[in-house]
Amino acid sequence: MRQISSISSLLKLLAFTLLFVSTNVAAQDAAAGEKLFKKNCATCHSWEKPGTGPALKGAVDRIAPGSYGDVDSWLKAWIKDNAKLRASGDAYGNAVFAKYGTPMSTFGNLSDAELGEIVNFLRVGPSTPPPPSGGNDKVPGKDSTNTEEGSDLWLLLIIIAVSALVIIIFTGVNRSMKNVIKTKAGEEADEPKSMWDAMGHWITTHKKLASIIGFVVFLTLGKIGWDALAGIGIYQNYTPKQPIAFPHDLHAGKNEIDCKYCHSSARTSKTSGIPSANVCMNCHKAIDEGSRSGKTEIAKLYQYVGWNPDSAKYMTKDGKMRNDTAIEWVRVHNLPDFVYFNHSQHVEVGKVACQKCHGEVQEMEEVKQFSELTMGWCVDCHRETEVQFAGNDYYKKIHEDAKAENKHKKDFKFTVDKIGGLECAKCHY
Ligand code: HEC
Ligand code: HEC
Ligand code: HEC
Ligand code: HEC
Ligand code: HEC
Ligand code: HEC
Repeated sequence: MRQISSISSLLKLLAFTLLFVSTNVAAQDAAAGEKLFKKNCATCHSWEKPGTGPALKGAVDRIAPGSYGDVDSWLKAWIKDNAKLRASGDAYGNAVFAKYGTPMSTFGNLSDAELGEIVNFLRVGPSTPPPPSGGNDKVPGKDSTNTEEGSDLWLLLIIIAVSALVIIIFTGVNRSMKNVIKTKAGEEADEPKSMWDAMGHWITTHKKLASIIGFVVFLTLGKIGWDALAGIGIYQNYTPKQPIAFPHDLHAGKNEIDCKYCHSSARTSKTSGIPSANVCMNCHKAIDEGSRSGKTEIAKLYQYVGWNPDSAKYMTKDGKMRNDTAIEWVRVHNLPDFVYFNHSQHVEVGKVACQKCHGEVQEMEEVKQFSELTMGWCVDCHRETEVQFAGNDYYKKIHEDAKAENKHKKDFKFTVDKIGGLECAKCHY
């Protein structure tokens, strides 16, 4: 009996592990579904806010599947051909249609597996929730760069857990076989009292293997901890997902639009700023298609500003001008509040190129944080970079004085630190 109970507890644990692995698989499924959703559905549906179609958060709970039996079958039929579903007399389908009036597109091209992935996504929702309003000020998280690494770690942990289980089960089976033989021979069986005893027993009898497994677990946990500590405050290569896939390479690179056409305040103020949608519309009233994403991404811009490309007019509803919604770009660069950084001082006065700090943005499809943005990074550059004094009488005088003072030093350079670029109060309020 005892043997059965310990085996059944092992089976429970195994089932739990399998469940864990399978939810992981479901999550992967949903990720594939999310891709399909973005490609096929996102022009009309968002998760939280109604657009051309309803917001899809909670859709799985409100749908009444009627004669389709269950929500999944209803959804698959609806997505594949909603007109056919409505024609079949389905009550819920006809009710949403009556409410929205615009027919949804049909998706006869999607396979049953793909439909399943989309349905999974509709249950789980977006992997990174859309930024709340005022998303511009969002402090960057490392989510977008780290998810893959995270799932690798999970995979590793799962593999370790499963192999440990397999080993335990093997020793269990091995022992019960021995016991069977022993009982037959009339000896008393030595059964383990519980799974933990079995594990303890296994560890004492397999010291080498146990210490290897222990070491791997230790390294894994250590790496997680170390990454978490080392990453605090440094977001180099941070590339958040933006509401519109705005490509710098096609604009600033291929079409050679000057950075300052869009980031015009870099010249005159502390911040460079992000252009408003009106700036985009200077060109995009006429350009409704890109070479990479076709019409999809530019259609999102039109959604935000309420532009109807067919009538070439801003859309009106009830005779009123439609309010445009600000595009919630997610901030890439973000110094802590206690640091003072001024763009015009660097770009205009210091004549530092944007690329020196931001990398070759004109070649990036998505902008990422190129530099560390640490104090050491600022200070190092101030130690190395010479002040631009041409055409600046104020600096010219200081520069001449400094040169006179340092006549004896052969390779004297008038660098930023010499005008106070290392003083704490210049960078800290
Ligand atoms: C051209 C715009 C458009 C596209 C593209 C589109 N939909 Fe729809 N969808 C709608 C509209 C509009 C409705 C409301 C019902 C109606 O008017 O037919 C709707 C309704 C729905 C509903 C029912 C929602 C509820 O609240 O009950 C679901 C689910 C849905 N769509 C899923 C999808 C999925 C998944 C895709 C992509 C494969 C997609 N839609 C693509 C416009 C669209
Ligand atoms: C057609 C307009 C346009 C042009 C030209 C342009 N940008 Fe941008 N830039 C944007 C928009 C819109 C964003 C916000 C979306 C994003 O981050 O991708 C942005 C974001 C950025 C960011 C990240 C800002 C943050 O959130 O921290 C940097 C850095 C940047 N641009 C630098 C440049 C540089 C350097 C150039 C020239 C090589 C340039 N941009 C040219 C429109 C433009
Ligand atoms: C000075 C003109 C100009 C401005 C301003 C401009 N664009 Fe564009 N945009 C273009 C051109 C030209 C293309 C086509 C580029 C190509 O595909 O080669 C384009 C293409 C695009 C695309 C599609 C790229 C692809 O993947 O195929 C998107 C999205 C886009 N622009 C968004 C924006 C946004 C958002 C803004 C405002 C921040 C903006 N544009 C401002 C000229 C402009
Ligand atoms: C000396 C380094 C340096 C140079 C040169 C520089 N930037 Fe920046 N940029 C930064 C830093 C640091 C931040 C982060 C500022 C913050 O978080 O307050 C930033 C932020 C930005 C942002 C985000 C919005 C904002 O203003 O905070 C944009 C857009 C941007 N830079 C564009 C540009 C463009 C375009 C140029 C060239 C005209 C340029 N930068 C030149 C260091 C630089
Ligand atoms: C690529 C080189 C470079 C980097 C990186 C850089 N700076 Fe500068 N910085 C300069 C130059 C050049 C000047 C001189 C401008 C001038 O002539 O007034 C300057 C001047 C300054 C000044 C004015 C100093 C004074 O005495 O007037 C401040 C403040 C400043 N930088 C802050 C920062 C901060 C904060 C960072 C990091 C977030 C930073 N800088 C990163 C090149 C750089
Ligand atoms: C050229 C600009 C600059 C100068 C000069 C400067 N700092 Fe900083 N400091 C920064 C930046 C940028 C950060 C933010 C670094 C980060 O977020 O990783 C920072 C962060 C800090 C922090 C927070 C701890 C940390 O490393 O994140 C302290 C404390 C600090 N500075 C003290 C000082 C003191 C004291 C001085 C004068 C000896 C000084 N700073 C001079 C730019 C500067």
